[in-house]
Order: sequence, then C-alpha cells, then structure tokens
Amino acid sequence: MSASATAPLERVGVVGGGTMGSGIAEVCARAGLDVALVEIDGQACAVAQQRIEASLARAVERGKLDAGDAEQALGRLSFGESIDFLADRNLLVEAIVEHKEPKLEVFRRLCDVVLDPDAILASNTSSIPIVELGSACGARGGQVVGMHFFNPVPVLSLVEVIPSLLTAPEVTARAQQFVREQLHKDPITAPDRAGFTVNALLIPYLLSAIRMVEQGLASAEDIDRGMTLGCAHPMGPLALADLIGLDTVHGVADTLYAEHREQLFAPPPLLQRLVSAGLLGRKAGRGFYSYS
Ligand code: 3HC
Repeated sequence: MSASATAPLERVGVVGGGTMGSGIAEVCARAGLDVALVEIDGQACAVAQQRIEASLARAVERGKLDAGDAEQALGRLSFGESIDFLADRNLLVEAIVEHKEPKLEVFRRLCDVVLDPDAILASNTSSIPIVELGSACGARGGQVVGMHFFNPVPVLSLVEVIPSLLTAPEVTARAQQFVREQLHKDPITAPDRAGFTVNALLIPYLLSAIRMVEQGLASAEDIDRGMTLGCAHPMGPLALADLIGLDTVHGVADTLYAEHREQLFAPPPLLQRLVSAGLLGRKAGRGFYSYS
C-alpha cells in the first residue's frame, strides 16, 4: 500500500457551498484541516463564506467555540470557482444540488483533476446510488464512497458512510476513521440503496405529515406540536422539512420512489406545488412556515 493511501486526510476539497457544503467545510476547518471550497462563481463563493462566518459566530455566541478558534478556522478556508482549484486535495466531498447528472459530471471532473491517486472521492448525496458515482470514475471507482452528513452539520454528530459494490474496503475504513478521529463525529455504515438508512426511514415520515396537511386533517402547527411535545423530537416534521429544504425533500422522495416504487415514498402534490412556487422552506423565507 502506498504512503499516500494511509496518510491523514488533511487537505479537504468541498464542491458546493450551499447549506450542506458550507456546513461540511466549516466542521473540517474547525477540526484543523485545510479546506478549499468550490462554487460556480464569485458571488456564490461570497454567499458560502458569509454562511460559514455566520455559523461560526453563532457557535461562539452559544459558547461552543472560542472566538480565537473561530478566527483560525476561517483562516483555513479558501474559495475557488473551478474544480481545478482542488487538484492538490486528498479528501474531496461533493455537496452540490441533489440531481444525478450534475453530480456525475462533478465526479468525472474530479477524476481528471485530482492528482493524488489515493485521494478519497466522497459524496454527501442523500439518495443517489454511490455505485453510479463510482462508475463515472472508471479506474478510480474504488476510491468513491458516500459520506452523508446531517443538517445542521456543525450540530449533528452522525455521518453515514456508504460503500458501494466498487468501493475498496480500505477506503471505507479510512473514511470512517476520518469521521471518528479527525472530525470527532459518529459514523455508521449504511447500505448503498436509495435513502441509505436514515432517509429511508425519515422521508416517509415527513411525507406522511405533508399529506396530513394536504388533506386538511391537521394544521402544520398541531402536527409539529404533536411530535415535539408527544414524542420529544427536537422539531416537528414540517419545521424539519422546511429546515432540510422542500426541494431537497422532494428530490430525495423522487429518488426513493423511483427505486422502490412504494407509495409511501411518492412526493405528495402539495410538496410539488410548494417547490414550483419557490417556497422551499427556511432558506427561501417561506415553506410550511414563514421566516423573517
Ligand atoms: N455550531 C456548534 N453548535 C451549535 C451551532 C453551531 N453553529 N449552532 C447551534 N449549536 C448548538 C447549540 O449550542 C445547542 O447546543 P446545546 O443543546 O448543547 O446547548 C444546540 O446546537 C441547539 O442549538 P439552538 O439552541 O440554537 O437551537 P435549537 O435548540 O432550536 O435546535 C436544531 C435547533 C439543532 C436544528 C434542533 O432543532 C435539531 O436538532 N433539529 C433536528 C434536525 C434534524 O433532524 N436534522 C436532520 C435532517 S435530515 C438530513 O439532514 C439528511 C438530508 O439528507 C435530508
């Protein structure tokens, strides 16, 4: 085994600076790693940077982080507008929009650009088969693994690590070790099937709540109060759908339904309508609730 296959993963590249990509970049920088984040243009880079700065400020405010450590974390982050910016990285995490074609394109580009043959090529996809991303990488397919974080990334400790049929066992082990020892988060091994472990359980629950609202059986507020006060969930399903993003919930449901063909995964029309209207939840200022 080459030395680079066992070297610590210290140069992280993140593709996509939305809610999840920014969160992943932030936790890596907070863990002392050098992080390069790529977005499509300068404006999107600036938005990602602001998002990370705001989250670091919140962590300082809540007493979770020293102001000096937040400053240092910011200093470990750099931003670029092209995948070429990631050539020297040894862990890549793709976190772009939840659609298959653009993700496949990112993986093809990463395979061309990333120099270290032992670099791990990870995806934060919620639902796209890891094996398809691996296949897009040809001879590098063994280096591709799922690394699925949970929102808000700085707060939630779970990371699903998803090996595909092509993933080399040592790559899975290295990814798990990275999560545990470098990020100090908790990995579980999840199967490479649509929804992995958590979303396969969570999405039908969220869709059921949306159907209840759609059918006029209960208000969003009462459903959410039911689950927070009656089951001690930190937030109810409709507030959670707004937090995840209704476009993401819809995208994951579509993928689950396409693979399993079971009605419980079918996105309800109300969810489709909200997405069409651009009412995507918290990030858009309105979804099931209004945020101002
Ligand atoms: N960095 C570090 N810690 C932070 C932080 C930050 N930027 N922001 C907040 N925190 C900490 C707070 O200090 C607090 O910690 P404490 O309980 O030890 O004091 C804790 O996080 C909660 O923060 P707040 O008090 O600000 O907020 P709330 O108590 O209202 O909780 C919430 C907000 C964390 C979103 C909580 O409601 C929650 O965990 N909800 C469930 C979220 C969930 O289920 N996410 C999974 C979504 S599924 C997914 O992501 C998969 C995808 O593929 C769809």
